[in-house]
Amino acid sequence: MATPHINAKVGDFAKTVLMPGDPLRAKFIAETYLTDAKLVNNVRGIQGYTGYYKGKKVSVMASGMGQPSIGIYSYELYNFFGVENIIRVGSCGGLDAELHVRDIVLAQAACTNGNYLAQYRLPGTFAPICDFKLLNLAVNECEKLGANYKVGNVLSSDTFYDDANSGLEWAKMGVLGVEMESAALYANAARLGKKALCICAVSDSLIYQYEDLTADERETSFTNLITVALETAILL
Ligand code: HPA
Repeated sequence: MATPHINAKVGDFAKTVLMPGDPLRAKFIAETYLTDAKLVNNVRGIQGYTGYYKGKKVSVMASGMGQPSIGIYSYELYNFFGVENIIRVGSCGGLDAELHVRDIVLAQAACTNGNYLAQYRLPGTFAPICDFKLLNLAVNECEKLGANYKVGNVLSSDTFYDDANSGLEWAKMGVLGVEMESAALYANAARLGKKALCICAVSDSLIYQYEDLTADERETSFTNLITVALETAILL
């Protein structure tokens, strides 16, 4: 059964899907961490793979960048392909003084400056939150790895290059990091009765602007992130 953006059959996806933004990351995760990984989608180059991690069926598919993009792919996975859990594995810009590049942010909730939530025509402001069970499992995995992590709010921004540099305004409210997808993912999960979590590696800091990652450091922080997501996935 094909949908407008996913050319796969029901059953091609595992009940849990890891979602990096980047299609090449999806390919890398499948080739590096999964056994017997098969390409199940490649519409618009949005690569999706299903394989096994420690003997459990897991999928990984790219989301593309931004709320409209993850909104489409997560909706189709949840609604047409029987997917129950989506764990976004992304990066964020740090907005918190305790967070440095390589650290991990578990997005308990997601604020947004975008318009995705307007479609629900709610008489107020919806607060997009992650699934508590997924969050709790991921926290345990961070502890096991000894990773430096924080749990809290993120900002899902529609702008990467923000003219008003408004990330720092959100930091005043204790928002930990800025990324571009979680609010739409959490809203879709809520609307469809499914589960979602976003785990981000801090790739740059809006507080410590001199901080940057070497290629090696980027790789290590990415390894931690994927390990947390996969170890969480096999417990679901
Ligand atoms: N803004 C938005 N998304 C991001 C950033 C950022 O600074 N860093 C990583 N993802």
